[in-house]
Amino acid sequence: MSEVIYMVESSAELINNALLVSATIRYVVLDPILFKQSVLLDTKEILSSIVSKVEMSDKETSFKVSMYQIGIRHMKLNSEKIEGRIGAIVKQQFPNLVVNLLNPDSKLVVLAWDDMAAMGWQEGEIEYSSINYRAPKNSPYFGGGAMKPLLSRICVNLLQPLKAIVLDPFCGHGGMLREIADLGSFAIGIEISTRVIRQASFNNRHHDYADLINLIQGDSLSPPFRKGGIQAIVTDPPYARQTTTIGRDRDKLMYDWFNILDGPMKIVITTPTNMFVDTPKSWQVDIDTEDYVHKSLTRRIRRMIKE
Ligand SMILES: C[S@@+](CC[C@H](N)C(=O)[O-])C[C@H]1O[C@@H](n2cnc3c(N)ncnc32)[C@H](O)[C@@H]1O
Repeated sequence: MSEVIYMVESSAELINNALLVSATIRYVVLDPILFKQSVLLDTKEILSSIVSKVEMSDKETSFKVSMYQIGIRHMKLNSEKIEGRIGAIVKQQFPNLVVNLLNPDSKLVVLAWDDMAAMGWQEGEIEYSSINYRAPKNSPYFGGGAMKPLLSRICVNLLQPLKAIVLDPFCGHGGMLREIADLGSFAIGIEISTRVIRQASFNNRHHDYADLINLIQGDSLSPPFRKGGIQAIVTDPPYARQTTTIGRDRDKLMYDWFNILDGPMKIVITTPTNMFVDTPKSWQVDIDTEDYVHKSLTRRIRRMIKE
């Protein structure tokens, strides 16, 4: 995933809500001052005039300056040196603020990208360690196709706002299900293999999600739901030709599966790019994108809607 900077005009509340469910946001800076990047290397007076525009609130008592370069690294910019220069200016302008590099109350963030820069107080930051903790390598059981939690979470987030119940009809060891549950919906998973479903159940208990997930051992071509009972699906279907499809032709399995879905529905489906999943004409594909995972795997992610 590449680094991107987004400018959003919204309320702090909505931005904080996005931060709570996100799998991709690292830092949020509220009301940043935008300026030409060359200013960072300019005289102290010019840099001071930018700092003086940054709004101060009473909550800032100890601070540190953190500079992040987005996208390509800017060889000319020495982040540490710029952080020091700006820190000294802030201290001069606001003498009651003290520098605390280890545990500051607030962070003054400087972002640099292309030939632009921005400066503002950091509203939030996510480490994602609690989500990465659910990674396949930290779970009791996982299979070859297990996806990393952040990618699963991105797929689930494409269904936002989430329905109360979300289904993964090819749930494997349950990585997608645990992200659905973590984001506040009840997750149902169907898995054909009795061994894998037992292992998924163990994983759910290990990560403390068993109460929020219902596992069904069975065939997704004959799901036990009433008509219209499921309206949101996120899945990573089998992609090995036959090993995980009990000998069925994989493409035919997907074709048949699409044909049994009824009622209005939103689906997010992710597959390796070299796996072709034909999209039936009655579905409208409104997102079709790719995500590089590693050199032999790029994932295609599609969102499909049927009215
Ligand atoms: C690519 S894996 C899913 C991996 C999962 N996302 C994870 O994180 O562990 C696809 C799963 O679909 C299961 N499967 C294959 N055919 C099925 C069917 N007809 N009904 C339900 N599950 C099926 C396979 O056994 C396999 O575990």
